[in-house]
Amino acid sequence: MDKKYIVAFDQGTTSTRAIIFDHQGTICGISQKELTQYYPQPGWVEHDPIEIFLHQKEVFEDVLQTSNISVEEIAAIGITNQRETTVVWDKKTGEPIHNAIVWLDKRTTKICEALKAKNLSPYVSKNTGLVIDSYFSGTKLKWILDHVEGAREKAERGDLLFGTIDTWLIWKFTEGKIHATDHSNASRTMLYNIINLEWDEKLLQALDVPKSVLPKVQYSSSDFGSIVYKGQELPIYGVAGDQQASLFGQGGYKSGMAKNTYGTGCFMLLNTGKKPYESKNGLLTTLCSSIPEDNIKYALEGSIFVGGASIQWLRDKLQIIDKASETEEICMSTTSSEDLYVVPAFAGLGAPYWDMDAKGAIYGLTLDSGKNEIIKATVEALAYQTRDVLEAMIEDSGKQMKELKVDGGASANNYLMQFQADILNVDVDRPKMLEVTALGAAFLAGIKAGIWSKKDIAKIRDVDQVFAPQITEHHRNRKYTGWKQAVERTKTANT
Ligand code: G3P
Repeated sequence: MDKKYIVAFDQGTTSTRAIIFDHQGTICGISQKELTQYYPQPGWVEHDPIEIFLHQKEVFEDVLQTSNISVEEIAAIGITNQRETTVVWDKKTGEPIHNAIVWLDKRTTKICEALKAKNLSPYVSKNTGLVIDSYFSGTKLKWILDHVEGAREKAERGDLLFGTIDTWLIWKFTEGKIHATDHSNASRTMLYNIINLEWDEKLLQALDVPKSVLPKVQYSSSDFGSIVYKGQELPIYGVAGDQQASLFGQGGYKSGMAKNTYGTGCFMLLNTGKKPYESKNGLLTTLCSSIPEDNIKYALEGSIFVGGASIQWLRDKLQIIDKASETEEICMSTTSSEDLYVVPAFAGLGAPYWDMDAKGAIYGLTLDSGKNEIIKATVEALAYQTRDVLEAMIEDSGKQMKELKVDGGASANNYLMQFQADILNVDVDRPKMLEVTALGAAFLAGIKAGIWSKKDIAKIRDVDQVFAPQITEHHRNRKYTGWKQAVERTKTANT
């Protein structure tokens, strides 16, 4: 039977999906399950690693069934995942010793303060491309080893394994045969040296992490073992963190290309090529998805913690919308309240501010401000935060951007995309197929399987709409100045 399909596993913060692509990059089947979020204490966020694995298995089986595609027709599997989220499990039993600590979790701020007090910030920035923040896996791993009874001793004996979600899924799906990750995920741990491409001894020591718990780091497009399903061996040939996968899926393997994904958070990445730029403006330097026949490439990244999550807050906590998709119509029909700003610092402020202790705020309320005005200001906050990051990116790279490629759930919102173009003063280019993260993972797997070459990616991408800026410079400046003032008032003294 002709092996003509690639399956992408897309394990995100709020949902787990399996998507089947054909040779043209067309979606032939999709299955999805929501993931339970646990909030054991304010600022803490956890996932159940077993639920993640079981959901991934279920959606995989479901997508094969509903699309009527047989396992014999699958050429390879690509995995893409929420990054930084940390799992530690027992090597012998395969049981996690603690829930996964999610990237948004703030419990390790004190560990971060201690690292900063040791003056490690310049070293971390130069060698990992990151800032010291609870966002990354390193301090989460230390927390688990310090707080779960007997964990450190077990780790010292070589009985525990650590992984981000890609590693956990690979290990489970290969029945404990492969303990590996890829460059893009490793670069988010704050333990990996992105210059010499090795686990960093100095940081392992600073965080008291035994080397034996760490996975092997491979190219994103390489052999990560096989899933045996219904007697068939399905090779896992692609693995990448979701943001680097979407950059790849947008054709961003070339230097100078930038994309912004509107998911739970918002993540803008600019491929800077072979040269790592050390940001002077609060951005991160990170490794792109890697393919063996290419040079290692770096990206500048602006990580905004709360993007689509603020729309979920409108729906689940304020309960002023029923569905995220309603916001487009509400924004279009609500007259602008010029001075109303929602700063969604629900998980602190990420790039370019890095204020772990900041909390969300609303400024500019008047007796005219109703729920629709708050909804509109919340949607607009996604665009303002994106401009903060874009400005930092231009400063750091010296590259003026003319165009931004977008994807992710909220990029379907036409109001937001037009507002984004207006606030940035650049064209916003939205592709027809918005599942670019999954497509990126499929490409990585398909390249290794010999189905595609890098160049095919650009041919497959189809533009849906380009949003061109429409407001005056004066209007743009007035609005953005108001936003900057709102952010200034939100920051804590700790930055
Ligand atoms: O760094 C966190 C990021 O990978 C999460 O992505 O798509 O789950 O919001 P997403």
